[in-house]
Amino acid sequence: MRESDLWPPLREYWHPVAFAEDVGDKPLAVKLLDEQIVVCRLAGRVAAFRDLCIHRGTPLSLGWVEGENLVCAYHGWAYEASGKCIRIPSIPPEHPIPKKACLTAYHAQERYGVVWVCMGDEPQVPIPEISTLEDANFRVDVRNGRLWKCSAARAIENFIDLGHLPWIHEGILGTRDNPLTPVVNVERVDEEIRFTVEGIEDRTREAGSYTRVFRIFRPFTIYLSKVEHDGKTEVMYFACTPHTAKECTRLFMIARNYEIAQGGSKVEDLGELIIEQDRKIVENQRPEELPLDLTEELHIKGPDAPALAYRRMMREIGIEA
Ligand code: FES
Ligand code: FE
Repeated sequence: MRESDLWPPLREYWHPVAFAEDVGDKPLAVKLLDEQIVVCRLAGRVAAFRDLCIHRGTPLSLGWVEGENLVCAYHGWAYEASGKCIRIPSIPPEHPIPKKACLTAYHAQERYGVVWVCMGDEPQVPIPEISTLEDANFRVDVRNGRLWKCSAARAIENFIDLGHLPWIHEGILGTRDNPLTPVVNVERVDEEIRFTVEGIEDRTREAGSYTRVFRIFRPFTIYLSKVEHDGKTEVMYFACTPHTAKECTRLFMIARNYEIAQGGSKVEDLGELIIEQDRKIVENQRPEELPLDLTEELHIKGPDAPALAYRRMMREIGIEA
Protein backbone atom coordinates (compact mmCIF):
# COMPACT_ATOMS: atom_id res chain seq x y z
CA MET A 1 0.00 0.00 0.00
CA ARG A 2 1.31 3.39 -1.03
CA GLU A 3 0.40 6.92 -0.24
CA SER A 4 -1.64 7.51 -3.41
CA ASP A 5 -3.83 4.51 -2.54
CA LEU A 6 -5.14 6.83 0.15
CA TRP A 7 -6.32 9.51 -2.27
CA PRO A 8 -10.00 8.39 -2.35
CA PRO A 9 -10.42 8.39 1.47
CA LEU A 10 -8.23 11.51 1.76
CA ARG A 11 -10.84 13.44 -0.22
CA GLU A 12 -12.90 13.36 2.99
CA TYR A 13 -10.17 15.24 4.90
CA TRP A 14 -9.40 18.96 5.05
CA HIS A 15 -6.25 19.96 3.19
CA PRO A 16 -4.46 23.29 3.36
CA VAL A 17 -4.27 24.69 -0.16
CA ALA A 18 -2.96 28.28 0.11
CA PHE A 19 -2.28 31.13 2.49
CA ALA A 20 -5.47 33.17 2.83
CA GLU A 21 -3.64 36.35 1.77
CA ASP A 22 -2.91 34.75 -1.60
CA VAL A 23 -6.59 34.11 -2.30
CA GLY A 24 -7.96 37.44 -3.42
CA ASP A 25 -9.88 38.66 -6.44
CA LYS A 26 -8.07 36.43 -8.84
CA PRO A 27 -9.11 32.76 -8.94
CA LEU A 28 -6.21 30.55 -7.95
CA ALA A 29 -5.51 27.17 -9.57
CA VAL A 30 -4.28 24.45 -7.21
CA LYS A 31 -3.74 20.78 -7.82
CA LEU A 32 -5.06 18.73 -4.91
CA LEU A 33 -4.85 14.92 -4.81
CA ASP A 34 -4.26 14.86 -8.56
CA GLU A 35 -7.29 16.97 -9.30
CA GLN A 36 -7.22 20.53 -10.58
CA ILE A 37 -9.27 22.81 -8.33
CA VAL A 38 -9.89 26.56 -8.26
CA VAL A 39 -9.98 28.63 -5.10
CA CYS A 40 -11.39 32.15 -4.95
CA ARG A 41 -13.17 34.62 -2.71
CA LEU A 42 -16.84 35.24 -3.53
CA ALA A 43 -18.32 38.23 -1.66
CA GLY A 44 -15.41 37.96 0.79
CA ARG A 45 -15.81 34.24 1.56
CA VAL A 46 -13.48 31.55 0.31
CA ALA A 47 -14.89 29.06 -2.16
CA ALA A 48 -13.44 26.07 -3.99
CA PHE A 49 -14.58 24.20 -7.08
CA ARG A 50 -13.39 21.61 -9.48
CA ASP A 51 -11.51 23.73 -12.01
CA LEU A 52 -13.70 22.81 -14.96
CA CYS A 53 -16.55 24.67 -16.60
CA ILE A 54 -19.44 22.31 -17.39
CA HIS A 55 -19.99 24.06 -20.73
CA ARG A 56 -16.77 23.39 -22.63
CA GLY A 57 -14.25 22.22 -20.08
CA THR A 58 -12.45 25.53 -19.64
CA PRO A 59 -10.61 26.00 -16.32
CA LEU A 60 -12.42 28.54 -14.19
CA SER A 61 -9.03 29.66 -12.93
CA LEU A 62 -8.68 31.46 -16.29
CA GLY A 63 -11.78 33.47 -15.43
CA TRP A 64 -12.49 36.17 -12.85
CA VAL A 65 -14.56 37.03 -9.82
CA GLU A 66 -17.50 39.42 -10.16
CA GLY A 67 -18.94 40.17 -6.73
CA GLU A 68 -20.54 36.94 -5.52
CA ASN A 69 -19.90 35.02 -8.73
CA LEU A 70 -17.11 33.27 -10.54
CA VAL A 71 -17.15 33.97 -14.28
CA CYS A 72 -15.81 31.65 -16.95
CA ALA A 73 -13.43 33.32 -19.39
CA TYR A 74 -14.69 31.48 -22.50
CA HIS A 75 -18.41 32.38 -22.78
CA GLY A 76 -18.98 34.37 -19.60
CA TRP A 77 -21.17 31.92 -17.71
CA ALA A 78 -21.41 33.08 -14.09
CA TYR A 79 -21.52 30.65 -11.16
CA GLU A 80 -22.52 31.41 -7.57
CA ALA A 81 -20.87 30.02 -4.42
CA SER A 82 -23.06 26.90 -4.39
CA GLY A 83 -21.73 26.11 -7.88
CA LYS A 84 -25.01 26.90 -9.61
CA CYS A 85 -24.84 28.78 -12.91
CA ILE A 86 -26.89 31.96 -12.63
CA ARG A 87 -26.11 33.60 -15.97
CA ILE A 88 -25.57 32.45 -19.54
CA PRO A 89 -24.97 35.64 -21.50
CA SER A 90 -25.62 34.10 -24.95
CA ILE A 91 -29.30 33.41 -24.23
CA PRO A 92 -32.07 35.90 -23.39
CA PRO A 93 -32.55 36.40 -19.62
CA GLU A 94 -36.04 34.83 -19.65
CA HIS A 95 -34.64 31.62 -21.12
CA PRO A 96 -34.24 28.95 -18.39
CA ILE A 97 -30.74 27.92 -17.32
CA PRO A 98 -30.31 24.13 -17.50
CA LYS A 99 -30.33 22.50 -14.07
CA LYS A 100 -27.17 20.64 -14.94
CA ALA A 101 -25.27 23.91 -15.40
CA CYS A 102 -23.37 23.55 -12.15
CA LEU A 103 -19.79 23.44 -10.97
CA THR A 104 -18.66 20.79 -8.54
CA ALA A 105 -18.34 22.80 -5.33
CA TYR A 106 -16.09 21.73 -2.47
CA HIS A 107 -16.02 22.69 1.21
CA ALA A 108 -13.71 25.65 1.83
CA GLN A 109 -12.75 27.38 5.07
CA GLU A 110 -10.23 29.86 6.33
CA ARG A 111 -8.31 29.12 9.52
CA TYR A 112 -4.91 30.29 10.85
CA GLY A 113 -4.43 32.42 7.76
CA VAL A 114 -4.68 29.32 5.59
CA VAL A 115 -7.43 28.21 3.19
CA TRP A 116 -8.53 24.61 3.74
CA VAL A 117 -10.47 22.51 1.24
CA CYS A 118 -12.28 19.21 1.62
CA MET A 119 -13.35 17.50 -1.59
CA GLY A 120 -15.56 14.86 0.03
CA ASP A 121 -19.28 15.04 0.79
CA GLU A 122 -18.65 15.60 4.48
CA PRO A 123 -15.30 16.22 6.20
CA GLN A 124 -14.36 13.18 8.30
CA VAL A 125 -12.60 15.21 10.98
CA PRO A 126 -12.37 18.91 11.81
CA ILE A 127 -9.46 21.13 10.81
CA PRO A 128 -6.67 20.55 13.40
CA GLU A 129 -7.25 22.65 16.53
CA ILE A 130 -4.18 24.77 17.22
CA SER A 131 -5.06 27.41 19.77
CA THR A 132 -1.71 29.26 19.81
CA LEU A 133 -2.17 30.24 16.19
CA GLU A 134 -5.27 32.15 17.25
CA ASP A 135 -3.70 33.53 20.43
CA ALA A 136 -3.18 37.31 20.28
CA ASN A 137 0.08 36.97 22.28
CA PHE A 138 1.69 35.18 19.36
CA ARG A 139 3.00 37.01 16.33
CA VAL A 140 3.68 35.26 13.05
CA ASP A 141 7.31 36.05 12.15
CA VAL A 142 7.76 33.68 9.22
CA ARG A 143 5.27 32.57 6.62
CA ASN A 144 6.24 30.86 3.39
CA GLY A 145 4.98 28.25 0.96
CA ARG A 146 7.53 26.15 -0.88
CA LEU A 147 6.98 23.57 -3.57
CA TRP A 148 8.89 20.36 -2.90
CA LYS A 149 9.22 17.65 -5.50
CA CYS A 150 8.35 14.87 -3.08
CA SER A 151 5.31 13.29 -1.54
CA ALA A 152 3.59 15.09 1.32
CA ALA A 153 4.08 12.13 3.65
CA ARG A 154 7.82 11.95 2.95
CA ALA A 155 8.03 15.67 3.80
CA ILE A 156 6.08 15.17 7.04
CA GLU A 157 8.15 12.17 8.05
CA ASN A 158 11.37 14.10 7.55
CA PHE A 159 10.18 16.68 10.07
CA ILE A 160 9.67 14.07 12.81
CA ASP A 161 12.81 12.10 12.05
CA LEU A 162 15.14 12.75 14.98
CA GLY A 163 18.01 10.55 13.83
CA HIS A 164 18.97 12.76 10.90
CA LEU A 165 19.59 15.91 12.91
CA PRO A 166 23.35 15.46 13.59
CA TRP A 167 23.93 14.29 9.99
CA ILE A 168 22.01 16.60 7.72
CA HIS A 169 22.04 19.56 10.10
CA GLU A 170 25.52 19.06 11.59
CA GLY A 171 26.57 22.00 13.68
CA ILE A 172 23.07 23.47 13.76
CA LEU A 173 20.73 20.88 15.27
CA GLY A 174 23.30 18.38 16.45
CA THR A 175 26.86 17.13 16.18
CA ARG A 176 28.12 13.87 14.76
CA ASP A 177 30.10 13.04 17.87
CA ASN A 178 26.78 12.90 19.73
CA PRO A 179 24.55 10.92 17.36
CA LEU A 180 22.32 9.12 19.88
CA THR A 181 18.66 9.92 19.41
CA PRO A 182 16.76 10.98 22.54
CA VAL A 183 14.25 8.37 23.66
CA VAL A 184 10.70 9.52 23.04
CA ASN A 185 7.36 8.20 24.09
CA VAL A 186 5.05 8.42 21.10
CA GLU A 187 1.39 8.70 21.95
CA ARG A 188 -1.57 8.28 19.64
CA VAL A 189 -4.55 10.47 20.41
CA ASP A 190 -7.39 10.15 17.91
CA GLU A 191 -6.31 11.94 14.74
CA GLU A 192 -2.84 12.83 15.95
CA ILE A 193 0.39 11.52 17.35
CA ARG A 194 2.34 13.41 19.98
CA PHE A 195 5.72 13.23 21.57
CA THR A 196 7.98 15.40 23.67
CA VAL A 197 11.71 15.74 23.19
CA GLU A 198 14.22 17.23 25.59
CA GLY A 199 17.78 18.11 24.99
CA ILE A 200 18.17 18.57 21.25
CA GLU A 201 20.99 20.95 20.51
CA ASP A 202 19.93 24.02 18.63
CA ARG A 203 22.44 26.62 17.48
CA THR A 204 19.66 28.77 16.05
CA ARG A 205 18.63 29.74 19.56
CA GLU A 206 20.20 31.60 22.46
CA ALA A 207 18.47 29.52 25.12
CA GLY A 208 20.38 26.44 26.17
CA SER A 209 17.53 24.14 26.93
CA TYR A 210 13.90 23.91 26.08
CA THR A 211 11.25 21.32 25.52
CA ARG A 212 9.92 20.48 22.09
CA VAL A 213 6.40 19.13 21.76
CA PHE A 214 5.50 17.58 18.42
CA ARG A 215 1.92 17.05 17.31
CA ILE A 216 1.30 15.41 13.96
CA PHE A 217 -2.25 15.62 12.69
CA ARG A 218 -3.50 13.19 10.13
CA PRO A 219 -2.83 13.48 7.29
CA PHE A 220 -0.26 16.23 6.63
CA THR A 221 -0.06 18.83 9.39
CA ILE A 222 2.60 19.29 12.04
CA TYR A 223 2.67 21.59 14.98
CA LEU A 224 5.88 21.93 16.96
CA SER A 225 6.23 24.08 20.04
CA LYS A 226 9.51 24.95 21.68
CA VAL A 227 8.94 26.10 25.23
CA GLU A 228 11.70 27.65 27.30
CA HIS A 229 11.70 27.56 31.09
CA ASP A 230 10.66 31.19 31.33
CA GLY A 231 7.59 30.58 29.13
CA LYS A 232 9.08 32.01 25.96
CA THR A 233 7.49 29.92 23.25
CA GLU A 234 8.13 29.50 19.58
CA VAL A 235 5.70 27.44 17.54
CA MET A 236 6.19 26.05 14.10
CA TYR A 237 3.29 25.10 12.00
CA PHE A 238 3.84 23.11 8.91
CA ALA A 239 1.07 21.79 6.67
CA CYS A 240 1.46 20.17 3.28
CA THR A 241 -0.75 20.39 0.24
CA PRO A 242 -0.60 17.01 -1.50
CA HIS A 243 -0.64 18.05 -5.17
CA THR A 244 0.30 14.64 -6.53
CA ALA A 245 2.13 11.69 -5.05
CA LYS A 246 5.35 13.35 -6.17
CA GLU A 247 4.77 17.01 -5.38
CA CYS A 248 3.61 18.97 -2.40
CA THR A 249 3.69 22.52 -1.10
CA ARG A 250 4.95 23.06 2.41
CA LEU A 251 2.98 25.87 4.01
CA PHE A 252 5.19 26.92 6.87
CA MET A 253 4.79 29.42 9.71
CA ILE A 254 6.73 30.39 12.78
CA ALA A 255 4.97 32.32 15.55
CA ARG A 256 6.47 33.55 18.82
CA ASN A 257 5.14 35.10 22.02
CA TYR A 258 8.33 37.15 22.34
CA GLU A 259 10.54 39.28 20.13
CA ILE A 260 13.69 37.65 18.90
CA ALA A 261 16.67 39.68 19.98
CA GLN A 262 19.15 41.14 17.51
CA GLY A 263 20.44 38.59 15.12
CA GLY A 264 16.87 37.62 14.28
CA SER A 265 17.67 37.50 10.59
CA LYS A 266 20.56 35.12 11.32
CA VAL A 267 18.07 32.81 13.02
CA GLU A 268 15.77 32.94 9.98
CA ASP A 269 18.74 32.37 7.61
CA LEU A 270 19.70 29.25 9.54
CA GLY A 271 16.08 28.14 9.31
CA GLU A 272 16.27 28.50 5.53
CA LEU A 273 19.51 26.54 5.41
CA ILE A 274 17.94 23.71 7.45
CA ILE A 275 14.99 23.52 5.05
CA GLU A 276 17.30 23.33 2.03
CA GLN A 277 19.40 20.62 3.66
CA ASP A 278 16.25 18.53 4.17
CA ARG A 279 14.83 19.21 0.71
CA LYS A 280 17.89 17.80 -1.02
CA ILE A 281 17.49 14.48 0.76
CA VAL A 282 13.73 14.14 0.72
CA GLU A 283 13.30 14.94 -2.97
CA ASN A 284 15.67 12.09 -3.75
CA GLN A 285 14.19 9.34 -1.57
CA ARG A 286 12.85 6.34 -3.46
CA PRO A 287 10.21 5.17 -3.88
CA GLU A 288 8.81 8.67 -4.02
CA GLU A 289 5.62 7.69 -2.23
CA LEU A 290 5.83 6.77 1.43
CA PRO A 291 5.50 2.98 1.75
CA LEU A 292 2.66 2.24 4.17
CA ASP A 293 3.45 -1.43 4.30
CA LEU A 294 5.65 -1.61 7.39
CA THR A 295 7.74 -4.47 6.01
CA GLU A 296 9.04 -2.16 3.29
CA GLU A 297 12.14 -0.23 4.37
CA LEU A 298 13.88 -0.98 7.62
CA HIS A 299 12.86 0.59 10.91
CA ILE A 300 15.09 0.92 13.94
CA LYS A 301 13.39 0.60 17.28
CA GLY A 302 13.74 3.87 19.17
CA PRO A 303 14.91 6.43 16.63
CA ASP A 304 12.23 5.52 14.07
CA ALA A 305 9.35 5.36 16.56
CA PRO A 306 7.70 8.63 15.42
CA ALA A 307 7.90 7.59 11.75
CA LEU A 308 6.47 4.17 12.51
CA ALA A 309 3.57 5.66 14.43
CA TYR A 310 2.94 8.02 11.53
CA ARG A 311 2.96 5.23 8.95
CA ARG A 312 0.56 3.21 11.12
CA MET A 313 -1.79 6.13 11.55
CA MET A 314 -1.80 6.83 7.81
CA ARG A 315 -2.20 3.20 6.93
CA GLU A 316 -5.34 3.00 9.03
CA ILE A 317 -7.04 5.49 6.72
CA GLY A 318 -6.73 3.00 3.92
CA ILE A 319 -7.94 0.12 6.05
CA GLU A 320 -10.85 2.01 7.62
CA ALA A 321 -12.04 3.24 4.22
FE1 FES B 1 -17.11 28.08 -19.70
FE2 FES B 1 -18.23 28.15 -22.13
S1 FES B 1 -16.55 26.97 -21.47
S2 FES B 1 -18.66 29.35 -20.41
FE1 FE C 1 15.72 18.14 8.95
